[in-house]
Amino acid sequence: MNHSIHAPVKSLAYSVMKAINSIIEIAFRLLRFMSLSVVSAAQSIGRQQQVKRPIHSPPAPPLPASCSGEQFRIAKGPNTMTIIAIASTKGGVGKTTISANLGMALVRAGRPVVLIDLDPQDALRLHFSAAQPDAQGLARAACDGTDWRASLIDTASGCQLLPYGRVNELGRESFEGLLRLQPRLLRQGIANLRLPADAVVILDTPPGPSVYLGQALSSCNTAVVALLSDAASYATLPMMHGLLQRYCFGRTDFRDHAYLINQVDSARQLNADVAHVMRMQFGARALPPVHHDQAIPEALACNQFVGDYDPLCRATQDLAAMAQQLAGRLHLETSRTA
Ligand SMILES: Nc1ncnc2c1ncn2[C@@H]1O[C@H](COP(=O)(O)OP(=O)(O)OP(=O)(O)O)[C@@H](O)[C@H]1O
Ligand SMILES: [Mg+2]
Repeated sequence: MNHSIHAPVKSLAYSVMKAINSIIEIAFRLLRFMSLSVVSAAQSIGRQQQVKRPIHSPPAPPLPASCSGEQFRIAKGPNTMTIIAIASTKGGVGKTTISANLGMALVRAGRPVVLIDLDPQDALRLHFSAAQPDAQGLARAACDGTDWRASLIDTASGCQLLPYGRVNELGRESFEGLLRLQPRLLRQGIANLRLPADAVVILDTPPGPSVYLGQALSSCNTAVVALLSDAASYATLPMMHGLLQRYCFGRTDFRDHAYLINQVDSARQLNADVAHVMRMQFGARALPPVHHDQAIPEALACNQFVGDYDPLCRATQDLAAMAQQLAGRLHLETSRTA
């Protein structure tokens, strides 16, 4: 009797397993197909060499043995100012989260850090609980022709923040018009901040191609491309490469670009597979990935950095490893503290 009940259950379980196997196989084929299509598209426009071997880019150092943010210091030295653009052709991939946490890691490692929010969403300040008078912000300062330094906010984290600011539609349009008219406006504005030579400027950008992203990419000497481990992010890579080609590659002061895969979820097979395919493709340009961790939005909701909110969580370790490797790539010498 028992046997007659279990047999259909076993056969049902077997069918389910078979179905799951087929889905995984189809996903693998899809990934392989996408990988081949992107490579052949790059070849067809003659860019394959640059995808693999971009200009002015030293190989990335190996991953550090330890990932703790407290265990590295950036040596003071005769470095020139470093401008990092956090960019993506897709929205919601974690650009603002990465900008804020990277700034925090670098400031704790001993660098003066200025974060500039180039996104009309004006969301970067939320990570710093920065009180912001209405009159303050990049958009308004640029349109009024006033000194950007008057809009810099000293945050409790130690980072300085230049928020986009609250402007109405007309203000936003005016600022965008100005950026179109003056392609070097951001670059010049950063120079006018008169920051110390060892300062790091981090540019948070809005999603997709825009006049903001164009200015950020043409001002930076390092670009970090943020993306999720999904097919939609993967499909935007040729567009991102086109933007890097247009604004970064070939500039003598452009040093490096790297890729950061965010919200990796190893428990989801397809997500983990796409992350693997991406890391294979990016090679030494792949920064340590940041895993999906609920502590990140929770920390934001509590007005805290995730490193303070939960020093031992996965995201804290990932973000520290990412910052440490990026610091190494930028030739900001690192040395472990005792
Ligand atoms: N590793 C992560 N794990 C879990 N949640 C994350 C992670 N990274 C970011 N998030 C959450 O994802 C959401 C989007 O992040 P964020 O605002 O940084 O993305 P963005 O790329 O700046 O978005 P936009 O394109 O709108 O500017 C936020 O709610 C953030 O807290
Ligand atoms: Mg953002």
